[in-house]
Amino acid sequence: MRLVHTVKEVREQVKEWRMEGLSIGLVPTMGFLHEGHQSLIAASVKENDRTVVSIFVNPTQFGPNEDFEAYPRDIEKDMALCDETGADLIFNPEPEEMYPDGFCTYTNITGLGDALCGKSRPIHFKGVCTVVSKLFNIVCSDRAYFGEKDAQQLAIIKRMVKDMNIPVEIKGCPIVREQDGLAKSSRNTYLNEKERAAALILSKAIFAGHDMVNAGERDAKKIVGAMTEIIKSEPLAVIDYVEMVNMDTMQPVDVVEGNILCAIAVKIGKTRLIDNFNDNIRQATP
Ligand code: PAJ
Repeated sequence: MRLVHTVKEVREQVKEWRMEGLSIGLVPTMGFLHEGHQSLIAASVKENDRTVVSIFVNPTQFGPNEDFEAYPRDIEKDMALCDETGADLIFNPEPEEMYPDGFCTYTNITGLGDALCGKSRPIHFKGVCTVVSKLFNIVCSDRAYFGEKDAQQLAIIKRMVKDMNIPVEIKGCPIVREQDGLAKSSRNTYLNEKERAAALILSKAIFAGHDMVNAGERDAKKIVGAMTEIIKSEPLAVIDYVEMVNMDTMQPVDVVEGNILCAIAVKIGKTRLIDNFNDNIRQATP
């Protein structure tokens, strides 16, 4: 496995692989890798001849008062995880490599990017779309792997690829959780012991909401209401949003049917955590 820092090095490597007729998978990450990222890398290794993992804490997707500086970084540990999972190349650029002096072109998405996380993080998805489209242009992979943990991000990337005719197949991978249910996240390291215990309220609410859907409940307000009550029972939790939306539009629904996403964002202390479930509910036959 190789570690490179420049676009030129990635292009040269990819060109070599292409001459050999090899297929390529890309796994974009911000590093501090855990089993969630690892499941994406493993999926890519399985489905492609070569796998590129990008590790880049992307400054343009963080708001001015967010955790860009504090975001955890550990390239040595990340390299070991990538290596043991079978990745072939790590692309770990400096911000100046991705955003050289004079950079002023952004990829933006309207509508989908304004809902859910976009409400409290107004520039977030513009930064995500910009860096991910750059990575697609740099690596030119056949496939790219994203987690359902960030379901809105996955939906946005799929839409961007479709709208901009980017020749890459987007693959979604299921949420990987800790044994007690908490969705794995690099940001979980911010939590102290009390907060870590309190953070369990997210998955509790998600599982309870999904159980209601599985039991046949179709009133979105009832489900969102019940989940909200559960989260409110935890004194350390402050709700950003609890919403049941249509997966394609990210707009709230009244009735749970079709392709739905139930997504939550909750602050535990200073740490903002997200979780979700999605389902495809067939319309009831009259
Ligand atoms: P990051 O938060 O590092 O996540 C990288 C990828 O890992 C994303 O596709 C995310 O959904 C996936 N992932 C994270 N935790 C997961 C879990 N518990 N189970 C399954 N998948 C999980 O998302 C980003 O970075 C950035 O926005 C990025 C796309 C790299 C653009 O900068």
